[in-house]
Amino acid sequence: MKLKLYSFLFFSLVVSYTSLSHLTSNLDVLIKFETQKAPPISAQRCDPDIAPFYIYELPDRFNKALLSNCTKLDPWLNKCPYIENQGLGQLLYKKSSWYNTRSSWYNTYQFSADMIFHARAVNHPCRTYNLSSALMFYIPFYPSLYAPSFFLEYNFTRRDAMAVDLVNYISSFPNFQRHGGHDHFLVSGIMVQDLIRTSDRIDGKAFRSNNLLNLPKLSNVSILIIERKQLRKYKNHFGIPYPSYFHPRSKAEMISWQNEVRRSKRPHLFSFVGGTRPKRHKAEMYRSTVINQCKRSKKCLLVFCKYWVSAWDAADEILGAMKRARFCLQPPGDTATRRSVFDSILAGCIPVFFTDLMAYSQYEWYIPENREDWSVFIRPEHLYRIEDVLSRIPEEEVQRMREVVIGMIPQVTYVHPGATRAEIGFRDAVDTALVELTKRVRHIKHGTDAGSSLAPSL
Ligand SMILES: *[C@@H]1O[C@H](CO)[C@@H](O)[C@H](O)[C@H]1NC(C)=O
Ligand SMILES: *[C@@H]1O[C@H](CO)[C@@H](O)[C@H](O)[C@H]1NC(C)=O
Ligand SMILES: *[C@@H]1O[C@H](CO)[C@@H](O)[C@H](O)[C@H]1NC(C)=O
Ligand SMILES: *[C@@H]1O[C@H](CO)[C@@H](O)[C@H](O)[C@H]1NC(C)=O
Repeated sequence: MKLKLYSFLFFSLVVSYTSLSHLTSNLDVLIKFETQKAPPISAQRCDPDIAPFYIYELPDRFNKALLSNCTKLDPWLNKCPYIENQGLGQLLYKKSSWYNTRSSWYNTYQFSADMIFHARAVNHPCRTYNLSSALMFYIPFYPSLYAPSFFLEYNFTRRDAMAVDLVNYISSFPNFQRHGGHDHFLVSGIMVQDLIRTSDRIDGKAFRSNNLLNLPKLSNVSILIIERKQLRKYKNHFGIPYPSYFHPRSKAEMISWQNEVRRSKRPHLFSFVGGTRPKRHKAEMYRSTVINQCKRSKKCLLVFCKYWVSAWDAADEILGAMKRARFCLQPPGDTATRRSVFDSILAGCIPVFFTDLMAYSQYEWYIPENREDWSVFIRPEHLYRIEDVLSRIPEEEVQRMREVVIGMIPQVTYVHPGATRAEIGFRDAVDTALVELTKRVRHIKHGTDAGSSLAPSL
């Protein structure tokens, strides 16, 4: 029955597209249609593990209007180049061999997951326009643009105004109240500490932060965020990957990239891409130790980035170095997490961690259960013997781990928002999040709390 309906739809679409193209010579439509010879409609069907979701049409002030003021979005950075292409940033031109002809490489800013998620969700086959058939509700706000634009606002009432406005707006809907917000979600491209203020003092910790994620009305809403805090209070927060540079439009492109990093010659045992931190910065101890050991070792490749100089413009150099090393050191930086972790996965370079907070306690939805399957953890007592620890790992073990890392690339990648499900054929970062959110809402709908941290009955 369903099949018949789909083939009917398919047929009528062919007819209407064909007649349309005669009338308007709309080459674009025709070309796009012809490249999708496989059954396009059924392939565009929603993944059965993802529940239908509804995207709220928010007033422009919560997303689109922010974009129009891009020079003022951040006190230290002109964000305009980074909001281009729906948050992917500017295209990276074919500077070196791996930027393939389909131009799926962008100079993506590390704090733009919320914009990219939104662009993907809008075209997602599981999106429904029917409020009453949706099981999940997406609030497409852009905390990564809102938070920095108020970093230097010293009046807290004014700094928080947009957060309060948003939460009052959303929570007034009967739809929100029905399940206390448990079936709603919001995505943040910026770290949790910029969205929870821990002190009322204008100096110290109050610097920068607004109070969005401390507002009680959001306490049941699932918050997908690039860096979370591991506190009971924030058990509704879930880690999602930082976006990296690769946004493929097809499975073929993904496989070809995976093959490329698999074949890549890796003459260096390990590499470090990053910089030092000022004295008294809490990450300085790790940074200087790592850099000194790398400088002294013949087996280490160092790509040194000066503090406060934008390293994310150097995709070529960063990924190039990571492709030539077997292990990539990931010491803490300005905050507990680093975008670099996802760059190193993309380059097939096994990450080396020094703290639990860098990945293990952040990205549960995305990483293998056993940390030793895909990464190396340097215990504090081994901090000064990095080369020693890494060179003791047998070659076949290194290869096995690298295969796991390469296998993780699809699920930590944000595919191009314009790609169709038929072309993609794998679950990316957005799909993976939607699958996990679906498990949670299905718990709610069945009124069970089997092992989940949700309220028992709703
Ligand atoms: C853009 O910035 C100006 C100056 O800061 C401000 O007055 C205006 O309201 C902003 N516009 C939007 C749409 O946020
Ligand atoms: C919306 O979904 C509800 C529940 O699934 C259904 O009863 C209704 O017919 C749908 N409305 C439209 C316009 O499709
Ligand atoms: C902070 O801003 C609010 C709203 O604009 C204003 O009512 C209040 O007086 C300001 N507080 C201070 C201390 O300036
Ligand atoms: C959050 O959920 C709990 C029950 O799980 C409910 O009592 C509470 O009112 C909800 N909070 C909001 C803001 O709706």
